[in-house]
Amino acid sequence: MAQPVAIEVWNPNGKYRICTQKKTILSVEDIVALIGDKCDGVIGQLTEDWGHTLFSALSKAGGKAFSNMAVGYNNVDVNAATKYGVAVGNTPGVLTETTAELAASLSLAAARRIVEADEFMRAGLYDGWLPHLFVGNLLKGQTVDVIGAGRIGSAYARMMVEGFKMNLIYYDIYQSTRLEKFFLKANGEQPVTWKRASSMEEVLREADVISLHPILDKTTYHLVNKDSLAVMKKEAILVNCSRGPVIDEVALVEHLKQNPMFRVGLDVFEDEPYMKPGLSEMKNAIVVPHIASASKWTREGMATLAALNVLGKVKGYPVWSDPNRVDLFLDENSLPPA
Ligand code: GLV
Ligand code: GLV
Repeated sequence: MAQPVAIEVWNPNGKYRICTQKKTILSVEDIVALIGDKCDGVIGQLTEDWGHTLFSALSKAGGKAFSNMAVGYNNVDVNAATKYGVAVGNTPGVLTETTAELAASLSLAAARRIVEADEFMRAGLYDGWLPHLFVGNLLKGQTVDVIGAGRIGSAYARMMVEGFKMNLIYYDIYQSTRLEKFFLKANGEQPVTWKRASSMEEVLREADVISLHPILDKTTYHLVNKDSLAVMKKEAILVNCSRGPVIDEVALVEHLKQNPMFRVGLDVFEDEPYMKPGLSEMKNAIVVPHIASASKWTREGMATLAALNVLGKVKGYPVWSDPNRVDLFLDENSLPPA
């Protein structure tokens, strides 16, 4: 087990024992031990499985609040938390732009083959300019497809449309007023080409760049699979900064092998921290270790929000009117000006 560091913190209202860990990811048993017999609340990470065992341990220790330090909460069984009387929070808003910027970075890096070119350069293979060296895709005028048009998907769409003059199709089970507001002028004019698709297949068929931003649940598990990959253009770019299991990674590796011009940018993986066999050898894949929200500003914001979620509940701040409210802090401020 990782040796947790216990820090005692004083504030005018009492003493808190804060446990932090140095590096290693904690197991359920580690966390039960850390909770001990008295614990008011916990800030947890997306690598931890917050289900019956942990919520029951927290509840027995008198705990009333849990916050994921993440916007995604597929690692949290909110029903179990409710059963044990523990309120749950997450950290939306503060990571919207940072995460969308990584999705944009991966889109560009894949389009322009930046990682492959960098490896080539460092390997000393560059011996002079050639017309066909690392030819990639021009984004301008191509179609970007956003699957899941919540905060992050909408911010990404805005970047790609406004920044790179791409056409947009989005697909979401809900109509996204958030996203549609971006592109609708006050006079009702639509300055860019965009539409909401009626089916996944329609978007996949037409898209040059596809970026995944849904939550992970039963309905989005393996949303991208062998069949959906087969529908996509042979030279499409697929980006995933949501959750790994949204893609069937084994099918993806096979698809990358069969289609060398198809490229992916992945921030998340099905069995983190592992990659499915073969993925790391694929030149047409860019892989980064779940860093989409890793800007200094955002990580400070996530930590602060997670702390406010827990302390807000423990100290009874009025924001906690609903005992099991996720998405506590809505990020209306991160909406662009109308
Ligand atoms: C990170 O993946 C998050 O959900 O915040
Ligand atoms: C996540 O916060 C999203 O809305 O995409």
